[in-house]
Amino acid sequence: MSKKLKILIFPDPKLRTVAKKVEKFDKSLKKLSEDMLFTMYDANGIGLAATQVDRHIRLVVMDLSEDRNEPLVFVNPEYTVAEKHSLVDFEEGCLSIPGFNQNIARPDKIDLTWQDLDGKKHNDAPEGLLNICIQHEIDHLEGKLMVDYISALKRDRVRKRLLKEFNRK
Ligand code: NI
Repeated sequence: MSKKLKILIFPDPKLRTVAKKVEKFDKSLKKLSEDMLFTMYDANGIGLAATQVDRHIRLVVMDLSEDRNEPLVFVNPEYTVAEKHSLVDFEEGCLSIPGFNQNIARPDKIDLTWQDLDGKKHNDAPEGLLNICIQHEIDHLEGKLMVDYISALKRDRVRKRLLKEFNRK
């Protein structure tokens, strides 16, 4: 049975933790990825990084399908920006920053490598939403958030709103 995990909300300082590389491809990794997918589907998200559920390993789950039945798991994902690329603007959202959407410019061409749950290595040059989403999730593994791309003034406004909404008990 999958378990719903608690999603950390900005400005929780734990979201700034840099995640460690996964070395052991065991049952607990598989279980965590299943719980993360369950949590992501429950929250209606399209991507979730382990950092967001306070597990600081390099693990990302995603589902970009219309019918929400094509789960993707990336272990130790890494990318380099392709030499010939341009920046594309896309309006992003984040389960750790509820009610906040922002256009962010990211490279449209990257070379991505990752491992699956068995440790097998893969590589691809993702396009479109997958490209945007994996860059967003890898940011999480580095402790970086969407609000780091906006002005300090705007960031502070988001911080204050979320502190008020989520830390009032
Ligand atoms: Ni996010």
